[in-house]
Amino acid sequence: MVEFALPKNSRIEAGKSHAVPDGASRTKTFRIFRYEPEDGKNPHIDTYTIDLDDCGPMVLDALIKIKAETDSTLTFRRSCREGICGSCSMNIDGHNTLACTKAIEDVAGDDVTVYPLPHMSVIKDLVVDFTQFWAQYESIEPWLKTYSTDPAKERLQSVNDREELDGLYECILCACCSTACPSYWWNSDRYLGPAVLLQAYRWIADSRDEATGERLDELEDPFKLYRCHTIMNCTNTCPKGLNPARAIGEIKKLVVERRI
Ligand code: SF4
Ligand code: SF4
Ligand code: FES
Repeated sequence: MVEFALPKNSRIEAGKSHAVPDGASRTKTFRIFRYEPEDGKNPHIDTYTIDLDDCGPMVLDALIKIKAETDSTLTFRRSCREGICGSCSMNIDGHNTLACTKAIEDVAGDDVTVYPLPHMSVIKDLVVDFTQFWAQYESIEPWLKTYSTDPAKERLQSVNDREELDGLYECILCACCSTACPSYWWNSDRYLGPAVLLQAYRWIADSRDEATGERLDELEDPFKLYRCHTIMNCTNTCPKGLNPARAIGEIKKLVVERRI
């Protein structure tokens, strides 16, 4: 029988366990994925226990505390710390989410497991390579495209047309959805994935945009669009409560409607 296993240098090993802080009565243990490409070692899980009475409420607060007080080599992205920039996306307690909006007390188990976003190349620790993701985003030309004469002042939009963008404009491109999508795991070189397709629909749905036909031409492709099989992992994981699967369904509907 064929046996499938990770290559030896990819197997995750036990790492260092850091001491429990003196005098702490309410603690939480964080089991964090570590990988340093330059030291030749396997990825490993380091363990840190923090004093909850001396830490902010979010997982990102704990990571910042660990980096500041225990282990300055721990590497992760963050910026706004309020769910706006999308930088701190990672896999916490088995779910892709934002570390800055995930409350420590909402983690069900005794320990908090923290891994990088799945199926992305790891640059270091919790930092993954977004190069392909950004190239795919650029490929859908995410800006207003118009061909009519420019108005004297601005392109207006009715209140109802503006409301069509609700549930789309809020996307912060954190990639939690795309990296939770099995179709994207297996075909990320050709399938655009839920985040980029939601963004594509954001421009298609914009009443001011005049490039709907060419945008649909670009998307009508067995891989770019039709690798979505409506598994819904994307919608289930989005930390902003958006529904990329619905946006993908709307694109598919428009592709069919223009043929009828
Ligand atoms: S749809 Fe949600 S999960 Fe996907 S990139 Fe946008 S904000 Fe992140
Ligand atoms: S609905 Fe489509 S995009 Fe979302 S997880 Fe499933 S296959 Fe991926
Ligand atoms: S730090 Fe900006 S979204 Fe988390």
